[in-house]
Amino acid sequence: MLFVYSSRAYQQEITQLMHKELATHVVEEYRFYQGDKPDIESTKETFHNLMYLGANFEFYLLDTSGKILAYSTDPAKIKREKVSLAPIQTYLNTSILDQPIHGQDPRSLTGEKIFSVATIKQNDQVQGYLYVILGSEIYDEIADMVLSSQILQWGLGLLTAGFAFALLSALWITGLITKPLHLLTSQVKTVQQTGLSKQSVQNIQVIERLEQWQEGTQDEVNILGSAFRELLEQLNEQYQNVVTVDELRKELLSHVSHDLRTPLASLLGYLETWELNEGKVSAIESRQYIHIAKKNAHKISLLIEQLFELAYLDSGNVQVNKEHFSIAELIQDVLQKFQIEAQQKQIHLDISPKDSSICVCGDIEKLERVFTNLIENAIRHTPEGGSITVKLINSSGLVSVEVTDTGIGIPEADIPHVFDPHYKAQNSVRENTAHGGLGLAITKKILDLHQSEIAVKSAIGQGTTFEFSLAAKA
Ligand SMILES: Nc1ncnc2c1ncn2[C@@H]1O[C@H](COP(=O)(O)OP(=O)(O)OP(=O)(O)O)[C@@H](O)[C@H]1O
Ligand SMILES: [Mg+2]
Repeated sequence: MLFVYSSRAYQQEITQLMHKELATHVVEEYRFYQGDKPDIESTKETFHNLMYLGANFEFYLLDTSGKILAYSTDPAKIKREKVSLAPIQTYLNTSILDQPIHGQDPRSLTGEKIFSVATIKQNDQVQGYLYVILGSEIYDEIADMVLSSQILQWGLGLLTAGFAFALLSALWITGLITKPLHLLTSQVKTVQQTGLSKQSVQNIQVIERLEQWQEGTQDEVNILGSAFRELLEQLNEQYQNVVTVDELRKELLSHVSHDLRTPLASLLGYLETWELNEGKVSAIESRQYIHIAKKNAHKISLLIEQLFELAYLDSGNVQVNKEHFSIAELIQDVLQKFQIEAQQKQIHLDISPKDSSICVCGDIEKLERVFTNLIENAIRHTPEGGSITVKLINSSGLVSVEVTDTGIGIPEADIPHVFDPHYKAQNSVRENTAHGGLGLAITKKILDLHQSEIAVKSAIGQGTTFEFSLAAKA
C-alpha cells in the first residue's frame, strides 16, 4: 500500500511537471474570449477538438473569480460551480514545481486533483483562466481498481498471515529457549535458599533433582545445567571433607585433653604431695615422689611430641630423605633400646637373618620411628616369657619386614581400626594412659611416604604380626 501511494504521489508530481506548460500552450493556440466576453461556443468546440489528447485531461474555462464558464466533460458530472483560486495563484507564482499542487476538482465536492493552469489576458487585463485537470477520473478509477485488486488483497492477506506466523514462531522459539532457563533458574534459587546440609544424603537428593541436565548435548542451557550439577557435586564433596575434618579436629581435641589429663593430674599430685611433706618424709620417699612426677612429665612430653609428629605428617609438606642403609643394623639398634625392658619382662628379642648386607632405600630417621613403635607395642602387649622376632625376606628388589610377637593378639573387630589415630583395641595394654593411640597412625603415614602398605595379622592369645615391604634400591 505504501508502495502504491508513494508511486501515485510520484506519478502525480511527474505528470504535473510534464504538463506545466500545457494550459499556456492551449491559451496561446486558441481563443476563448470575444472582446470582454467569453466565447462559450468556440470554447466548447476547442475543448471538443482537444479531446484527441485523451481522457486524462479535463478542460475548464474559469472567470477571474474562479467560476466555471465552460468545460469539456459530461455536464451531469459537474458538482461545483466555482473552484478556489488559491491553489491556482500558488501554481502561477511557482516557477519550479518541487511537489504536486492540488486544486479543487469540479467533479467532486471534496476531492482535489493536480492541474495545469494558464491566465487568459487581453491588454494585460486578466480575463479568466484555462484550468486543466490532469489525470482524470478514469485514471483514478484505474488506480482505485489497482488498490482493490485481488492480487493486491492476496498480497496483503499473505503479508498479514506471514506477520502472524512470524510472531507465533518467535513466541514459540522464545518459549522453547526460556522454558528450560526458567526451570534451571528456579532450581538454582531453591538450592540457594536451602543451602548445603551437613548430611550428604540430603545434598545428594538435591543434586538428583537436577539429573535431567546431562552432559553430551550441544544445548547451551543443558550445558549450563550439567555444569551447575557438577559444581554442586564437587561442592558437596568438599563440604563433606570440611565437615569430616572439623569433626576429626573436635575428636582430636577431646582425645588430647583426655590423654593429657591423667599424667598431668598425677604429675601435679606428686609435686603437691612432695611440697606438703617436705622435711617430714625421708629423702628416699621424697626422691620417689620426684621420680614419679618426672616420669609423668616425660609421658606428657612424649604424647605432645607424637601429636606434633602426626600433625606434621598430615600437613603434606613432609620431606623424605631417602638413602641406602642396612636395615638389619637399624633394627638391631632399635632392639638394643628395648633390651633392658625386654629383659625385665623376660621377653626374647630376635632378628633373622642377622645379615647386615640387606639394604633398603628409605628415610632412616622415620623408619626408626616405625620400628620403635612396632617393637614398643609388641613388648607392651606380650606377657612375660614371650618372644618378639623381626624377620627380613629379601626378594626381587623388595625387602619384606615382619614384626611378630607371641602376645595377647588383637580382637578381630579392632583390626581394621588399629591404624586410626587415637584408636585402642579393647584388650589394649595402656600402662597409665600415656599412650594416645597414635603410634600405628604415625607408622602408617611414614610407610605411606615410602609407598609401602602395612598389614596386620593377629590371633587372640597367640600373637600379632605386622608386615610391610621396602624398596631395596632407589
Ligand atoms: N603388638 C600388638 N599386640 C596387640 N595389640 C596391639 C599391638 N600393637 C598395637 N596393638 C593395638 O593397637 C592399638 C593402637 O596402637 P598404637 O601404637 O597406635 O597406639 P598405642 O600403642 O596404644 O599408643 P601410642 O603408640 O600412641 O603410645 C593399641 O592400643 C593396641 O590395642
Ligand atoms: Mg604404640
